[in-house]
Amino acid sequence: MDGMLHLTADAAQSATVQDNWDFVNSQPHPLGGLHPYPARFIPAIPKKLIAAFPPRKGLSVLDPFCGSGTTLTEAQVAGLPSVGVDLNPIAVLMSRVTTGPIPRGLAKALSEVVERAEADNAPLVPEIPRLDHWFRADIQVALAALAGAIATAPIPTRDLLRLALSAIIVRVSNQESDTRYAAIQKPVARSDVFQQFTRSALKIFEALSARPASRPQTKVIEANILTLPAAAIGQQVGLVVTSPPYPNAYEYWLYHKYRMWWLGFDPLAVKADEIGARAHFFSGKRHTAESFRQQMRELMQLLDQVLVKGGHACFVVGRSKIHGEVVDNARILNEVASDFSFQEVFKTERVIAATKKSFNLSHANIKTETVLVLKRSK
Ligand SMILES: C[S@@+](CC[C@H](N)C(=O)[O-])C[C@H]1O[C@@H](n2cnc3c(N)ncnc32)[C@H](O)[C@@H]1O
Repeated sequence: MDGMLHLTADAAQSATVQDNWDFVNSQPHPLGGLHPYPARFIPAIPKKLIAAFPPRKGLSVLDPFCGSGTTLTEAQVAGLPSVGVDLNPIAVLMSRVTTGPIPRGLAKALSEVVERAEADNAPLVPEIPRLDHWFRADIQVALAALAGAIATAPIPTRDLLRLALSAIIVRVSNQESDTRYAAIQKPVARSDVFQQFTRSALKIFEALSARPASRPQTKVIEANILTLPAAAIGQQVGLVVTSPPYPNAYEYWLYHKYRMWWLGFDPLAVKADEIGARAHFFSGKRHTAESFRQQMRELMQLLDQVLVKGGHACFVVGRSKIHGEVVDNARILNEVASDFSFQEVFKTERVIAATKKSFNLSHANIKTETVLVLKRSK
């Protein structure tokens, strides 16, 4: 009888998620335009998954690859506590700022930082590879002065100010755009750096102020998910909503490389642990689809420890082209999960918006990705 009730509940859940997943006309999220992030969720996807597979009262939502924090923001909107993990410090900064409290004294801290930076004509410019190729000397001085001034701002305001600086770095550099790695001449003056930084900080502040005043707790952990002990999650998880890095598709470390250098992080350390980074497929390591299978096995081991019985794990994952062959990553996930008492309860294909595809996916003519929902049965 109990089993039948579960089946009926599953069927009902399945019915609520059967309709269209393409979200062609979805509106950008107010927090989405604050800082770029590649391959982020359309907010409607985690929203719909949270509504269809809500965790039991008191349990958290987990995104083990939280990126810019879309799942965490949607969990907050749904009134649920959440935990996010990401390897990339820029992802963690974005997730922390967009789900965290509004820093008190921001306006004062911002004007003091800009005043101090404008007056500093000889800051310590960090050692960054190929710095002169990507940043004009006067822009280097402005960025270094801002980074130095932010380091002395009141602690509660620092993350927001660092995110504001991160958001403008590619714009004031010689890099053509976030997705075009050519050095070009841009009409950016030193004073523009301070103006753009101020605008960026105020925009973040306004977006944070527009959120509902009461928001459930969100915890964001900077870590390699494959080596994170289950105890570090520190909460019972009732729902996982995530989009794992696609093997040989996007390169998050590369996309944020100069942001990381300027904020004092080491992009090469991030690259070394990044799942799916293209470098791992073409360097001496020659990763294969089997490497991804092993990585997903390690992820499932963790989920098996933190997700409660009856909880759901939702994945949005595409296919990859590895050494000339198209690999179905959802299938790999599903096969690995079945060794850990997870069962498929829902699966559908959704069309990836043409503008969202990385060059490598477009090249492989990959146009859809899979939404896969598994349930922990034991
Ligand atoms: C598809 S993106 C997630 C985007 C996210 N859903 C959003 O809305 O912004 C995959 C994420 O996995 C992260 N990642 C890659 N390897 C990782 C690892 N070993 N441990 C934790 N996170 C990792 C990347 O930094 C990236 O942010």
